[in-house]
Amino acid sequence: MPKKNVSVFFCQECGNETSKWAGKCPACGAWNSLVEEIVDKASVKQRAKVSDVKPTKIIDVATSNEARISTNIDEFDRVLGGGIVPGSMVLVGGDPGIGKSTLLLQTCRQLCLAGVNVLYVSGEESLQQIKIRADRIGNFNDKLDLLCETNLDTIKAVVEREKPTVLIIDSIQTMYNEAVGSAPGSVSQVRESTSVLMEISKVQGIATFIVGHVTKEGTVAGPRVLEHMVDTVLYFEGDRHASYRILRGVKNRFGSTNEIGVFEMRDTGLEEVRNPSSVMLDGRPENATGSIVTCSVEGTRPILVEIQSLVSKTAFEIPRRMATGCDYNRVNLLVAVLERMRDAKANKSCGIFLGRSDIYVNIAGGIRINEPAIDLAIAMAIYSSEKDISIDAKTLIFGEIGLSGEVRSVSMAEQRVNEAKKLGFEKVIIPFANEASVANIKGIEVVGVANVKEAVDALTRKN
Ligand SMILES: Nc1ncnc2c1ncn2[C@@H]1O[C@H](COP(=O)(O)OP(=O)(O)O)[C@@H](O)[C@H]1O
Ligand SMILES: [Mg+2]
Repeated sequence: MPKKNVSVFFCQECGNETSKWAGKCPACGAWNSLVEEIVDKASVKQRAKVSDVKPTKIIDVATSNEARISTNIDEFDRVLGGGIVPGSMVLVGGDPGIGKSTLLLQTCRQLCLAGVNVLYVSGEESLQQIKIRADRIGNFNDKLDLLCETNLDTIKAVVEREKPTVLIIDSIQTMYNEAVGSAPGSVSQVRESTSVLMEISKVQGIATFIVGHVTKEGTVAGPRVLEHMVDTVLYFEGDRHASYRILRGVKNRFGSTNEIGVFEMRDTGLEEVRNPSSVMLDGRPENATGSIVTCSVEGTRPILVEIQSLVSKTAFEIPRRMATGCDYNRVNLLVAVLERMRDAKANKSCGIFLGRSDIYVNIAGGIRINEPAIDLAIAMAIYSSEKDISIDAKTLIFGEIGLSGEVRSVSMAEQRVNEAKKLGFEKVIIPFANEASVANIKGIEVVGVANVKEAVDALTRKN
C-alpha cells in the first residue's frame, strides 16, 4: 500500500481531531484554536490478533507491592502521595523560570545520593548550563547521567541501553519524533512524544518526569490530552518575583490531589518550607486596617494566610474591583452580601455601602486559594478597611458565607484551630456549627458565629 500522508486539524485547547478546518472547535467550542498537521497514516501500529485477547479475573491480578522511591525532599514526596511510584509518569508544569529544572535536578541529586540511577535528558540546555545549576545545588555522584538530545529515537535507544530507574525529560515541548512531520512543540508532536515515552516507561518500569511549559492561559502548552495520558500532573506556581513557590498536585492516580509543597528559591536552589504558615504571615503589619488572618486547608494541611483589603472612594463612574490570590467573582458575591445587610433589619448595623468604592482584595505571600472557608475573612477585611477599624493581630477567622449572610460550617475546623493555636493566636472566630467539634481544644478562645453580623460584633467587641 502506498504511504499516504493525511492532513488533519487539531484543537490546541482540547486536542480534538477533525478532518476539516473550522473557526470554532466542534468539541470544546474554543475559537480559532484549530491547527493543521500532517499525520502519517502508514505508521498506525499493528494490533494484536483479536482472538488472542482475553479478559483477566480481578482476583488473578498480581500486585507487586513495590515500595515507592523517596525523593528525600519531604515537600515533593507529599505532593507525589508518598514518593515516586516505579513505572509512573509525572508531568511537571509551570511558567518559564519558576524553577522546574531546578526542582528536578535537586530531586536527581537526592536520588543519586540514595543510589538510584537517574538519566536527565535536556532538550533546552547544554551540559555546561546544567552543570552551572548543579554547582549551585551541591555535590553529585556518578549515578546521574546527563543527555542533551531532542530526538526521541535516540533517547529511546539510550534509555533501553542505560536502563535508568528514573528518567527526566526537560521539556516535552522540545522533543522531536521523526515519524511525525510537524515541528517540535506542536500538538501531534507533543502527543506522540508522550506516548512513546509512556511506552518506554510502562514496559521497563521507569519512573518518568516530564516538564511541560504552560501557556498564558495557565494550561500545559499543546493539548490537554497530555494531562489525560500521564498518571500525575503537578503544577509549580507562585509569583516569579517573590521567592516562594508552590507545587500543587492537580491529578494523581497514586495519591491525593490538592496536596501542596512549599519551597523557597535561594541561590543554593529550592529550599523546603516546613512551616508555611509562619512564612505566609511574615512581615504582617500590626494594627493595620483591612488586614486579617484566616486558615485555609490545602490537602491535609492547614495554612494560615493574611487577607488584605483596601476600600477607597472611586474616581470613576464604575468602581474597580480587584482580587489577587482569590476568586474575583467570590469577592463580588461577598460585597453584595455586605451591601444587602444594610437593608436587612436585623443586620443593619453591619451593612456597608460600597457602590462608590474601589475594592482591592489580596492574599499576601503569592499563594492562590479557592476555598470558601476564607469567605468570612475576606468580608471582614473589606468591612475593616471601609470602617477604618483595625483588627486584633492575635485573632483569626474562618467560615463560609451563604447568600443570606449566614456563616456556614467548614471542614477540618479542628485542624484549623490547632494551627492557629500553634502559631500563637489567642482568639478564633469560627462558624457556630463547628463550635462543638473544637470544644476540647484548650488554651485558645473560640467564638462561634451564625451570621455576618455576629462576626462583626465578635471582631469589634472590646475585651
Ligand atoms: N544564583 C541564583 N540565585 C537565586 N535564584 C536563582 C539563581 N539562579 C537562578 N535562580 C532562579 O532560578 C530560576 C530558574 O529556574 P529554572 O529551574 O531554570 O526554571 P524553569 O526550568 O522552570 O524554567 C530563575 O527564575 C531564578 O529565580
Ligand atoms: Mg527549565
